[in-house]
Amino acid sequence: MHQVIELEGVAKRYDSADAPALGPLTLSVAKGEALAVTGPSGSGKSTLLNLVAGLDKPTSGAVTVAGRRIDQLSEHALARFRREHIGMAFQFFNLLDDLTVTDNIQLPAQLTGTSRRSAAARAGELMEMLGIQKHARAYPGRLSGGERQRVAVARALVNRPALLLADEPTGALDTSSGHDVRDLLTDLHRAGQTIVLVTHDLTLAQACASRTLHLVDGHVALDSHARAVR
Ligand SMILES: Nc1ncnc2c1ncn2[C@@H]1O[C@H](COP(=O)(O)OP(=O)(O)O)[C@@H](O)[C@H]1O
Ligand SMILES: [Mg+2]
Repeated sequence: MHQVIELEGVAKRYDSADAPALGPLTLSVAKGEALAVTGPSGSGKSTLLNLVAGLDKPTSGAVTVAGRRIDQLSEHALARFRREHIGMAFQFFNLLDDLTVTDNIQLPAQLTGTSRRSAAARAGELMEMLGIQKHARAYPGRLSGGERQRVAVARALVNRPALLLADEPTGALDTSSGHDVRDLLTDLHRAGQTIVLVTHDLTLAQACASRTLHLVDGHVALDSHARAVR
């Protein structure tokens, strides 16, 4: 599979609005690309991410992710698709405070039916890779923001998703934790992970993305990669 994301004539118009919040937009993201989506507040960045994640449906157009057309799937099929193929990290981490770091990371693996034992092995591998193994038995509430975001990214990666989506992952972090997450995303990109990162932080975009898509009013104002089709 060469393209991880293919959008064809995708537009999203919210009920109350008279113009689309996004698109129409045609866009491909190849395996191994790290795409940063930038643009002012309200330009459609989260809308784009939600369509790719199958969290929302387009008003028109076709959304294909990891080789699967997802815009027509039922909620049930989408939930399953997301668990198996998409990892997500958000600004506010969304960790479960009553579970340890290890259990938070393992949870999506167990939900796909992975045995507890292999889930634990995969969680251990990720904690080591992300430098959080010393917190394996801690509860998220005791960790710094940067550490929590690492846990959230480990959880996002536990099922080896074709695609990692991150929406303002440094938005709630201090500068030093932000750099931590920036380095983590850069490492993941180098390791071949396909990433779509939404951020209004241009320094973050430049540091860890191989391609930048700049949105204005729901349209692509600039695509740094438009010249090349790999
Ligand atoms: N659920 C919604 N209902 C109605 N309008 C929405 C909804 N979500 C976003 N919008 C509108 O769509 C536009 C794009 O929003 P969004 O994708 O969240 O932008 P960004 O993430 O770039 O800040 C904005 O005008 C916003 O007000
Ligand atoms: Mg947003």
